[in-house]
Amino acid sequence: MRFQPKPLAAAGLLALCSLAHAGEKVWISVGDAALKLLQKQKVVTPAASASPMARLAGTDSSAATADRRAENIHLVQVDEDDLLHLSAAVHRELKRCGGFMFHPSQAEGLASLQRQAGTAKMAAVAALTRPSYTIAQQAVVPGLLSQMQASNIGQTIVDLSAYVNRYYQTAGGVSASDWLKQRWTTLAGGRSDITVEQFTHASWKQKSVIATIKGTDRPTEVVVIGAHLDSINQAGTTETTRAPGADDDASGVASITEVLRTMVANGYKPRRTLKFMAYAAEEVGLRGSQEIATSYANAGTNVVGVMQLDMTNYKGSVNDIYLYTDYTDSAQNTFVSNLIKTYLPTLKVGTDKCGYGCSDHASWTAKGYYASLPFEAAFNQDNPYIHTANDTYANSGNQADHSLKFARLAMAYMVELGSDGSTGIPDKTETFSGSLTLNQTRSFGPFKAGVGSFKASTTGTGDIDLYARRTSVPTTTTYDCKSDGSTSTESCSINLTANGDVYVLLKGYRAGNYNLTVTYKAPAGLLTR
Ligand code: BES
Ligand code: ZN
Repeated sequence: MRFQPKPLAAAGLLALCSLAHAGEKVWISVGDAALKLLQKQKVVTPAASASPMARLAGTDSSAATADRRAENIHLVQVDEDDLLHLSAAVHRELKRCGGFMFHPSQAEGLASLQRQAGTAKMAAVAALTRPSYTIAQQAVVPGLLSQMQASNIGQTIVDLSAYVNRYYQTAGGVSASDWLKQRWTTLAGGRSDITVEQFTHASWKQKSVIATIKGTDRPTEVVVIGAHLDSINQAGTTETTRAPGADDDASGVASITEVLRTMVANGYKPRRTLKFMAYAAEEVGLRGSQEIATSYANAGTNVVGVMQLDMTNYKGSVNDIYLYTDYTDSAQNTFVSNLIKTYLPTLKVGTDKCGYGCSDHASWTAKGYYASLPFEAAFNQDNPYIHTANDTYANSGNQADHSLKFARLAMAYMVELGSDGSTGIPDKTETFSGSLTLNQTRSFGPFKAGVGSFKASTTGTGDIDLYARRTSVPTTTTYDCKSDGSTSTESCSINLTANGDVYVLLKGYRAGNYNLTVTYKAPAGLLTR
């Protein structure tokens, strides 16, 4: 969690002012200054030390950032109680947040140290190829964006902030996870290509929630949008401590929920696999996302891009969206900025930085994946109520207009990155077969067809005639196209200049069997294949 004044980052470390559960020994990495403070408290000898390579800590190379990264990093084992003292001492004496990174084991601490020193390459990095960052879904994205609604986002914020708190160790934190799993499952509407699962964490109760839309053509390539499910009150973390976390980060979870809702409502099917992640335990050191990113990296999962939405509903600055430049990928940030120019041209964009790994994007960046953080405001103009009982929907004005901008950006990001530059609106094909007696007619439709060619054709026995018509069922005298040769092999097509319903009529001119094939363009935004 964050205290005032805002932390200055230690070299390549996650700032961490969080509370830890007492009693156990834990592994942390600290910078030089924090190590000195630790050594004032008791004798601590680092198990390993390294000097970080700036490139791995973030993409920007400003002099100030390089300075902050000049510190060495040391891996040390401490009691969790010492952690609290260290946190307080750092805050008091260095006037910033904890400046240490939590590691689940000595091995993982060492691996992290090596990565920050640039002496180890991750498997995931070797397997990663750059996506094209082509923007080519202009036929699909605007229709989807127009259907997204602030009121839906607001309702999810209200629902999530109704839990007393969503702390990673409380009953509320557990229930909120179960509720979200249920909500996303309902939104998925029984589609067989969508799964909603909880990711169980061994060391605490709250589970992360992951919804997956399986890609049609490239299911092994994965696009992630994430937000954190947990909340915190910096004054205390009991079962009954109020921590609504409406902006931090119900607003992010609600934004990605609206992306999922709109995709499903339109039968949208991506080429790459899309994942929606609500991370547990962000407020206590990015711990949920760290476990998830580690498990994806260990499995060699080809995550082609990650977007984090953490705090989207408080407009504290002149610009609408701030792209944070540290612990993020600059090439993907350029792509995100181009998405805004293309699809949300009225929005004003700025840049800023946290100065430390302030949210779950940093967990993915640490594993070598490309991540971005579009944020609600400049760093020093963000929501002043976060981490208190006053981080309520009311204190964001009881509306979610600001969040809607971020939800729309996340939609554009997922559709574009999920399509990998493929412009084609796929054909949709349906087939029917049966038989007709002399003079018997049968109608088919409506077919919800998009702009482009609508084609119907038959094969079969006897003599079947074929008619097609926009808007209503054709008759043998009123149609947009017909094919009435002397066999059952018929074909006719209509060129649609607008989306609409099309109907087909078959008539037995002589008795016979038919196989009818109808092929048409799915309307933009309705890429059902
Ligand atoms: N949403 C905040 C991060 C944030 C706060 C970004 C204000 C920009 C402005 C996040 O939930 C958080 O509190 N992060 C912690 C660090 C984390 C490693 C525990 C923080 O900022 O102290
Ligand atoms: Zn927070």
